[in-house]
Amino acid sequence: MAFEVRKLNPTFGAEVLGIDLTKEITADILDKFKSLWAEHQLLLFRGQSLEEKDAVAFSGLLGELEIHVRREYLSPENPEILYVSNMKVDGKAIGILSDTEVGWHYDQIYLPRPAVGSLLYAVTLPTNGGQTSFADMSAAYESLSDDIKATLKGRKAVQSYEAFNNQYSVPTNSDQKKRTPDIEQPVIRTHPISGRKALYICPGMTTQIVGLPEDESRDLLDYLFDWSVKPEFVYNHNWAHGDALLWDNAATMHRREPFDGDEERLMKRTTILPPADLAVPV
Ligand SMILES: [Fe+2]
Repeated sequence: MAFEVRKLNPTFGAEVLGIDLTKEITADILDKFKSLWAEHQLLLFRGQSLEEKDAVAFSGLLGELEIHVRREYLSPENPEILYVSNMKVDGKAIGILSDTEVGWHYDQIYLPRPAVGSLLYAVTLPTNGGQTSFADMSAAYESLSDDIKATLKGRKAVQSYEAFNNQYSVPTNSDQKKRTPDIEQPVIRTHPISGRKALYICPGMTTQIVGLPEDESRDLLDYLFDWSVKPEFVYNHNWAHGDALLWDNAATMHRREPFDGDEERLMKRTTILPPADLAVPV
């Protein structure tokens, strides 16, 4: 299977053309995809026609798949798939995150073994497609001043799923809450595959830099959040039917624009875990 690669943005992101993800991915192609994923941090495959089993099979080639803590939003047939949707069946939401804005975040940064990737596939879209944006946190880190890099070196920050839910989602139940307590992660993460460093904080979930006075921590976080989403670090994706986006969740954060709640949107996501020996962010 021959394919072509085109850059989406000057610093990161690439479209892979000429690939049907329902067809067999050979070991050779898989190796190339893994390299492209690490190099570009965001891979777009347009015009796909994926059954749930296809999304599970393809993303499963990239790592062990996680079963999300929000069990109520999983596919009934394929629990590796999380529904992101505003659709309801018998008055009950089938997916997470409804139709509202979802602020900048790393998926599952609040877990001890956070995902290294997610594959999001567009099944049903509002008329205008809707938009998801990604920020290149490696480029954002590398361009910081030496002083700020020195201040951040070796520091940890508190990551809170509860803080995210308070702003953008619905509360977790008591069992889910117990399984997702606030945790500390390194502020600068070394990528488990490429070894490249990235800012590993996000406005949606990061509440405090450990060891700094609260006002200093707030000011520094606000500075870093503004810095990270400068236009040169951001790619805005306008969704089309059949788009499948695979992102690097150790080096990019993302956000979603709200959309018209009278229209339906259904996205299906698989979440890819790192190898066990690279599980803990450093
Ligand atoms: Fe997300």
